[in-house]
Amino acid sequence: MLTAEENELLTRIEGDAPMGQMMRHHWIPALMTEEVAEPDGTPVRVRLFGENLVAFRDTDGRVGIVDERCPHRLASLAFGRNEECGLRCLYHGWKFDVDGNVVEMPTEPEGSNFAEKVKLKSYPTREAGGFIWTYMGPEEKMPRFMAPPWLVESDTSFAIAKINERTNWAQALEGSIDSAHSSALHSSNIMSGGGERTGPRDTLGGRSSGLMERPSYDKSPRIQVMPTPYGFRYAAIRKPSVNAQENNYIRITAYVAPFFSLIPPNTLYSAVQVFVPVDDYNTTFYFIARGNDSHVDTSWWRQRLCARPGIDVDEKWNKVRNLENNYLQDRQKMKLGDFTGISGIPNQDMAMQETMGAIADRTLEKLGASDIAIVRFRQVMIDAARKFQETGDVIGLGEDRLQPNTLRAYEGIVPKSQNWHELGMSDVEAERYRSSKSAEEESAA
Ligand code: FES
Ligand SMILES: [Fe+2]
Repeated sequence: MLTAEENELLTRIEGDAPMGQMMRHHWIPALMTEEVAEPDGTPVRVRLFGENLVAFRDTDGRVGIVDERCPHRLASLAFGRNEECGLRCLYHGWKFDVDGNVVEMPTEPEGSNFAEKVKLKSYPTREAGGFIWTYMGPEEKMPRFMAPPWLVESDTSFAIAKINERTNWAQALEGSIDSAHSSALHSSNIMSGGGERTGPRDTLGGRSSGLMERPSYDKSPRIQVMPTPYGFRYAAIRKPSVNAQENNYIRITAYVAPFFSLIPPNTLYSAVQVFVPVDDYNTTFYFIARGNDSHVDTSWWRQRLCARPGIDVDEKWNKVRNLENNYLQDRQKMKLGDFTGISGIPNQDMAMQETMGAIADRTLEKLGASDIAIVRFRQVMIDAARKFQETGDVIGLGEDRLQPNTLRAYEGIVPKSQNWHELGMSDVEAERYRSSKSAEEESAA
């Protein structure tokens, strides 16, 4: 349970809210590269932290993210002409480059230097891993752009699904670090049981069924959390369906501040969930599958997640299944055995998260033993926002910031005697973990 003040601190990200101001110090995935693939193509509206912006790719291939409002009379630049290295406002023809400079001001008399005095607000951009990243913090604090630690640069393929969620960022993210809910909410998408195995392997039950395999019937995982400089890793420890006396079935999720979660992978793909704040009440959800296998294919993933543009989501990535139509819940299907009657794992998640209210009143909750990772997430981010207010330090951007290709989640069956902390860790992460542990031991001694 949080106090009302803590709930506000955790959730609010617009304007001067400390959480949003802190997040702006990170490079943020603003939209997918595919949305602005074409030079001189259609400009795209993007809303981040309550700001209305426009993204466009100019003739030379550079991507700009600028204020949607033209600085002249505030008309929308989303309708502008994207031509000859700039975005031209339709109203009076002022033209801007990707950095927000005014390159033409046809309404002013010849010889006027007014264009030099006007600037369109713009944010720097970078491209990596299928996303356009932007930095919205103070210029002097801009960190060197680095792809995130979960981005495995050797992956030959990746797939991204995108869905708008009508709820606050923290509420959406809490679904991603809540292993226990999968045994209920997603139970019809999971094949429980499974045979004896000792390590991770395919957990997709084949392309046609799309079911995930879980070698366990255990619905009350024990949750253990391990703090890290970037957030935390937590293990959901379940009894395996075979040989439960000797082994544990372990699923390790990594929470990477400010809003990434690495969910347990398998041999076919690794998965990352991203929750980018649109405003206090809306979030953009991205699901990313990465790997070296043909299973990682965009159209297949979008179908599996019920996130196909034009079918499951509209051209602005809004869900066809939403609160107004009860998420197209099918009660007949439920009678026949489907647990939720709602198609698509993200739709099931969003039906639960959106119906809590846009910002859930966390003073009313009754949290139990399986909610430990959620409690830890709130602590970590509330502490980080307070520290940011006091010192300006930003979680995840310190000296110990992780390089790309260093962070992994994990799933597998291991002997009970085995400590889970280092399972699935990259060498770099394991090395850091050991040295931070020995530093802890030293300071305890
Ligand atoms: S409002 Fe854009 S040029 Fe006048
Ligand atoms: Fe879920």
